[in-house]
Amino acid sequence: MNKNQPINSQPPSLNEWNAELYDKKHSFVSSLGLDLLELLSPHKGEKILDLGCGTGHLSYKITGKGAKVIGIDNAPAMISQAHSNYPNLDFQLQSADHLSFQQQFDGVFSNATLHWIKSEKEKVVAEICRVLKPGGRFVAEFGGKGNVGEIVRGIYEALDAGGYGSNKELNPWYFPSIGEYASLLEKEGFELSFARLFPRPTPLADGEKGLRNWIEMFAGCFFEGISGEDKLNLLADIEDRVRSKLYQNGTWFADYKRLRIIALKQLIVNN
Ligand code: BEZ
Repeated sequence: MNKNQPINSQPPSLNEWNAELYDKKHSFVSSLGLDLLELLSPHKGEKILDLGCGTGHLSYKITGKGAKVIGIDNAPAMISQAHSNYPNLDFQLQSADHLSFQQQFDGVFSNATLHWIKSEKEKVVAEICRVLKPGGRFVAEFGGKGNVGEIVRGIYEALDAGGYGSNKELNPWYFPSIGEYASLLEKEGFELSFARLFPRPTPLADGEKGLRNWIEMFAGCFFEGISGEDKLNLLADIEDRVRSKLYQNGTWFADYKRLRIIALKQLIVNN
């Protein structure tokens, strides 16, 4: 391993996704969102914004209940795949911190997206509140406090041991506790009506390759500037470090911890 190799300190662009790989190997992301739809409970004629719609599968399910959906994502590849999966639905390339809508939605739904929004989290919650009708609901699930804690530990330890140092600034994720997120929601005009933080160990496809596939797909930012054999060595070291906790009978598990919330836009905002 070349310990002197410089590591690019710039995180990669978070909106460059491989949508095909996402649909093929990480389809659990939308299938696990299915029971979140029950919390949203969309009705005929309602207008719903699917924030971070990815390749569109959950937007499509929402329309199945008779609601009208607009799906937004800031990754061009995801929007393009969503259009090709469901040509009759409305998908738009938009960033969650600058929504182009007025106060027009009965509900905003978001699955497995908000943990990607770290520095703009307040702005995003304010935008969600702005585009909801008074009394409208915000139903979301994303990674909460402790999410992928073992994977992150393994990455930091392997980078340290390889002489790269573990620059925590490279960590792109926001995994709040219930208390932290409740304060944020209240500050931006919501009333929290439901919150739950719970572990959901999630099996990864592809047997022995499952964890490295996950890291390649979602955690590439930690390895910017490291390639080839050096990166393969790091991946193998991470696997060694977390195997006893995350590998069972030929399958890797991601140590997900989900934060689920329902928040209602206050009818009167009194700061
Ligand atoms: C998650 O769904 O919790 C997650 C996915 C990718 C990276 C980090 C967290």
